[in-house]
This record gives sequence, structure tokens and C-alpha cells, in this order.
Amino acid sequence: MKIISVVGARPNFMKIAPFIRAIKEHNANGGEQIDHVLVHTGQHYDDKMSKAFFEALDIPEADINLGVGSGSHAEQVGKTMMEFEKVVRQENPDWVVVVGDVNATCACSITAKKEHVKCAHIEAGLRSRDMTMPEEINRLVTDRLSDLLLTPDRLSDANLRQEGVAEERIRFVGNIMIDTLEAQRSKAEQLDPCRIVREGMLEGQEALTAAQEQALLESRVAVMTMHRPSNVDEREVLTGIIDFLMDEVAADMPLVWPVHPRTMNQMKSFGLWDKALACENFILLHPLGYHDLLRLNLGARIMLTDSGGLQEESCVLGTPCLTLRWNTERPVTLREHGGASVLVGNSVEKIREEYRETLAMERRPTRPELWDGKTAGRIVEAIVGYGL
Ligand code: UD1
Repeated sequence: MKIISVVGARPNFMKIAPFIRAIKEHNANGGEQIDHVLVHTGQHYDDKMSKAFFEALDIPEADINLGVGSGSHAEQVGKTMMEFEKVVRQENPDWVVVVGDVNATCACSITAKKEHVKCAHIEAGLRSRDMTMPEEINRLVTDRLSDLLLTPDRLSDANLRQEGVAEERIRFVGNIMIDTLEAQRSKAEQLDPCRIVREGMLEGQEALTAAQEQALLESRVAVMTMHRPSNVDEREVLTGIIDFLMDEVAADMPLVWPVHPRTMNQMKSFGLWDKALACENFILLHPLGYHDLLRLNLGARIMLTDSGGLQEESCVLGTPCLTLRWNTERPVTLREHGGASVLVGNSVEKIREEYRETLAMERRPTRPELWDGKTAGRIVEAIVGYGL
């Protein structure tokens, strides 16, 4: 059996690493061998956004890179489809496996089905019901077309059933991100948070103080990530959030923020960058590697993020988390479902209210069903056993 799996952007890499390992294990155990081809669309291309993750997570170099790069959504999806069609025709796979909800996921599932190749979607069934999110459109298209929908939780199964998806296409396998978390956790625990922050700091800031180092060692820091268009594309919204972070969060404790390239560009164009660099306790970092960010999350007093992956990791690690969105496709991570996170959108009043409440909370790890570190094995079994 031949499988092409596809990655494009940073959040895909931690999902594909365990899948590739599970294929190797399957092949080592005998039975029908799987010939695996890894395709990188090239949507994320900076070393810190891509190569660093391949190295840290032991992902073999991609067999084929489509070199798509940055661009509008139509440009990224269109270029990916044009290039991926050639790959599918040349490789003639039995399956195309796509992960998550980025442009690569959508583009390659469409191409696979147009070439009459079976498609499996890892992380199927998530729904934010927010059609202004490019990821929601990617999820809907990918799930509509895929033959095998591999879901991370039971709420996702229910979403698919509600859309009329036939039962035999749905397979609840758990969350593959947690396979990576569990495989890498002990390595992350050994890292020195002061070293991570010192080495990650962007130019133009004062060196870390002894008090800041102490706070890092004693888990008294806020960790922040933000890149969604809803938070960073409008001047007023981004300015409001950053003023709150500088005036109130950084007044309470050091705030450590690895900045996504998109967010850095927006901060610069809205004239917020120099102010942020000069603000005391407001520590801006380059994008971090997987283990470094995991280490900071393990020692965070509070997480503020609009990333779906960090919401899930914070749930399993128990880090109290403010999700800077009005909706989530991952409700299982919310406090009302036993998780660690609360939705605060991008309104400063709401963020402030929940920030104060969240500071009083303890770290409380929870583990949704089948977030057990063994999802990738179940996925390989589901693909190999499909239709038998
Ligand atoms: C993409 C995903 C999003 C995911 C996020 C994680 C889609 C629709 N969105 O959004 O779901 O949460 O990745 O990072 O696929 N840039 C660089 N270097 C890079 C990559 C990007 O400088 O290696 C800059 C470019 O200016 C680019 C901008 O960041 O235009 C946005 O990148 P893009 O890949 O278009 O979308 P993300 O916002 O990263």
C-alpha cells in the first residue's frame, strides 16, 4: 500500500511525526508493507517555522517540497493543487492523508479526490461554525470529501453525524497532538526556561533581570501566542489587546511572547513594535521550537493564546488558559467540558475579567477520552483495515 501524507504549516508537523513513526512500527511488525511519501507544500518555509520542527520531532526530510510559500488564500490553495496534482499522478498512491485545517489540508484533499484517490483526514469533525475563519472552510471541504474521518473526540463524531456523514466513514481515534506531547514531555521538562527565553529574545530589548529569571524558575510568568486575523489584522483590536497586556499583565508578572511572523508584521505596520520592545516585563521572542514552548507552558502561571494546539496542550498540562477567540472548534478543552480554557474573544473588558479570575486558579490537568498518546497506531490500523 502506498500513502502520501501532506504537511504545510507549523501546526501540521506535530501531527505528522507520530503518524510516520506508527507506519515504521507497522512495517517492522510484518504484514502488508506501507510505502510512505511525505509531501511538504512549503506554506511555512522559515527555518524557525518549519525546519526546526522536522529536526526536533525527528521527522524525515520531506520527499517532495511543493515550494508554495506565502500568498493570498486562493494563491496558496491554487498553487498547491497545481503542484500536488503532478505528484499524485506520478506517485499513484492508494491514500492521501491530510492533517488539521490549513490550506494544504483543503487543497490536497480536493486534488486527491479529483484524481480518484482515497483520502483520510486526521483531526476530522472539528467545527467552530465561524465562516469567517479560513480554517473552518478548510475543515468543511476536507471532511465533505474525505473517505475516512479520523476524529479526536466524541463531540466531533456528533458534528459529523449531524451533517449526515455515514457511520462507516467516521472513526474516533483520539488526539494525535497528544502522542507528540507525551513522547516529548520528559525532554522538555529537563530544559532551563531562563536559557530558552534568553536565547529566544528579539533584538532591541533589555537583558533578563534576576527577578525575571526567578519568576521563570518559579512558574510565575504569563505565556502568550497570537496570530489569528481576527486579533491581529485590525489596528484597533490589536492595539487594545497589546495595551492591556503591557499595562496590566506585564505589571503583574513577566509576559513571555514568541511572536508569529504575521503578528510581527502587523505590529510594525500599526506602530506598536517599538513600544512593545521597550516595555518592561514584556518579553518578545522569535518563534520557538516545540520543546522550548512546551517547557514554557509547563511552567506558565497562565496561558493567553488563539492557537488551537496550545489550547489542547494546556488542557492536558492543566495550565489555566484564556482563549483569545469568541468560538472554538475544540470545545472539549473548555472548562465547561472539564478542560482548562475559557473563551475571551478580543474584547479587553472580557479578557480583563477572566484574567483576574483565572489567576486565582490552580493547575488542573485533564485528559479527554483517548488523548492517551496512542492515537497514531489506531490511525494506521484504521487505514490498513479500511473496507476489509
Ligand atoms: C497558518 C494556518 C493557521 C495556523 C497557522 C500557524 C491556514 C489558512 N492558516 O496561518 O491555521 O494556525 O498557520 O502558524 O493555513 N510567514 C513567514 N514565514 C513563514 C510563514 C509565514 O514570514 O514561514 C508570514 C508571511 O508574511 C505570511 C504570513 O506569515 O504572509 C502568514 O502566513 P500563512 O501561512 O499565510 O498563514 P498563517 O497566519 O501562518
